Amino acid sequence: MRRPFVAGNWKMHGSRAENADLIDALLQGLPAQPACDIAVCPPVVYLWETGRLLKESSVALGAQSVCAEPIGAFTGEVSAAMLKDVGCRYVIVGHSERRHHYKEDDALVARKFLAAQSHGLIPILCVGEFLEERERGQTMAVISRQLAAVLDLAGVDAMRNAVLAYEPVWAIGTGKNATPAQAQEVHAHIRATVAARESASGGKIAAALRVLYGGSVKAGNAAEIFSMPDVDGGLIGGASLKADEFLKICAATQAH
Ligand code: PGA
Repeated sequence: MRRPFVAGNWKMHGSRAENADLIDALLQGLPAQPACDIAVCPPVVYLWETGRLLKESSVALGAQSVCAEPIGAFTGEVSAAMLKDVGCRYVIVGHSERRHHYKEDDALVARKFLAAQSHGLIPILCVGEFLEERERGQTMAVISRQLAAVLDLAGVDAMRNAVLAYEPVWAIGTGKNATPAQAQEVHAHIRATVAARESASGGKIAAALRVLYGGSVKAGNAAEIFSMPDVDGGLIGGASLKADEFLKICAATQAH
């Protein structure tokens, strides 16, 4: 029912030459009908050119962040309309590196989510807890709080055109992934939290919502994570920079 989705978050990596090689290898290695939807999210300066390289392929373009404001005197920022204009379909909002290194709080993330949607972009909303929060038994409370900020501002209907990503902070870039059971538990909680807001639609929005797992996903662990019932694919950092790894991760969505 939910088509799996794999998105590559290139973070601050790449160059024009490296990106061209990576896209070339990806497009050559992908089957005519991939098992999942696929997107890559290059640094903003490479979006336009990457979009040209992807043209007419089954790989969509996404951005890594967006300004909450629509236009104006916001030096260094990029608006949702601009991202749409250069061909983006998706934008990541609330990635833990934005939340923590750049102090983006729940309220700002919610405004970014809304800005993205109001310009026809599909936000990939990231939520996730720190290790200390997990150890204190606060994981579900943290996820609920992060989700509530967006649901309060945008409403549950907004989840029809969004993707969620559970990314435990302690698993990002550390080589230490959540176990499939840990991921499943939080994914089910995310889906239940969205379902609880639906009075009119009887849980249909939550049932259709794709919830990705992110945090040290590799070719070697993707299939077992994706086999969990509420894990609908992945948001991939480091392993999305290597075409063979990323292709294997995309293929692993067949386990879903
Ligand atoms: P990672 O990053 O796959 O390198 O752990 C995931 C992410 O930050 O989205």
